[in-house]
Amino acid sequence: MSKNKKQVVLVYSGGLDTSVCIPLMREDYGYENVITVTVDVGQPAEDIAQAAEKAKILGTEHYTVDAKEEFAENFCFSAIKANADYEGYPLSTSIARPLIAAKAVEVAKKLGATAFAHGCTGKGNDQFRIEYGIRALMPDATIHAPVRERNMTRSWEIEYAQKKNIPIKQSLEKIWSIDENLWGRSIEGGRLEEPDFAPPEEIFQWTKSPKAAADKVQEVTIDFKAGVPVAVNGVSASPAALIARMNQIAGDNGIGRIDIMEDRMLGLKVRENYECPAAVTLLAAHKALEALVLTTDELKFKAKIDSQWSNLAYSGLWWDPLKDDLEAFITSTQKRVTGSVSMRLYKGNLSIIGRKSPWALYSEDLASFDSTTFDQKESTGMVKNFGLQQRMYFHLVEKYKREQ
Ligand code: ARG
Repeated sequence: MSKNKKQVVLVYSGGLDTSVCIPLMREDYGYENVITVTVDVGQPAEDIAQAAEKAKILGTEHYTVDAKEEFAENFCFSAIKANADYEGYPLSTSIARPLIAAKAVEVAKKLGATAFAHGCTGKGNDQFRIEYGIRALMPDATIHAPVRERNMTRSWEIEYAQKKNIPIKQSLEKIWSIDENLWGRSIEGGRLEEPDFAPPEEIFQWTKSPKAAADKVQEVTIDFKAGVPVAVNGVSASPAALIARMNQIAGDNGIGRIDIMEDRMLGLKVRENYECPAAVTLLAAHKALEALVLTTDELKFKAKIDSQWSNLAYSGLWWDPLKDDLEAFITSTQKRVTGSVSMRLYKGNLSIIGRKSPWALYSEDLASFDSTTFDQKESTGMVKNFGLQQRMYFHLVEKYKREQ
């Protein structure tokens, strides 16, 4: 395609929403060349292959970008350092969106395209994350969101897809709306939209139910270096391989199922189900190590920084200067988060059973009931003056009560 022909980059998953965008872009939006970009952040290999196959059938210029290691190292590991948590959700879908947007922009820049399209609905968070990501990296980009712009419904999409010969067999069979990457699996839709409908076992694919998990305790030790995991049970691995390994181990033991009410950016409360075995275990281990090496003031202050970081990450504001500022603090604290944490996994339960670090702010000699190094008598003065202002306040209240 020559550069002067109208071309649009479609952020493409291969699902129904993004597939209907292909003929729409050509026929209704007037683009001659639709370029589809699928970014591999660890979704099932069949999904990636299917997207490429569909793109071929629908005649687009298709690109698959493998971003698994980049996602693991720069996104999932940042989430670990910041103890990522939004209302109990370790931010799996959220943190993949900025990277997907960045890769789409990379392809567009190579091909000289400045127009984009995505299949996000007007109700969710992804429209914010994808559009912010594209505009942050290409301020003058034109962005189309046909599903939102036309208030599309699933039944309209199915009918339109059939008219346009878009293969939709898989989409018709799907009851649940699933988004998957290395850091977790989100399951929505169908009866799960009812907050009091118990999630059926069939929605889970990465985690065994506690009942079906092996009746055997599994011990796992994670080694950390400067805030990020580097080895599982003494075996080091690349960031993506390490996360995949933890998904397997923790998932087999029934760990990582999350069922929450979530407040979306638009204010909608939605019921969300997640499976995040690696995220849940690695975050628990990381927190346990921080508790050993950071001062009490650092821990309290960092909890606020982490929460602010998580809000930005949830909103997809990956290139917000405040995020850089927060990360400067986080990175500084992580220098000492080196050591190892051991856990016991058993039928959906995770317990920390040990932690050690060359930076431990712990002295057995000082804390032990048996030691004499810590001269207890020296505490007398501190204890005596503890709560001085509070005591004065209390005495004044009592005094004025008596005078009434
Ligand atoms: N609510 C989550 C988020 O905004 C996950 C959305 C997942 N999407 C899906 N189609 N299941 O990050």
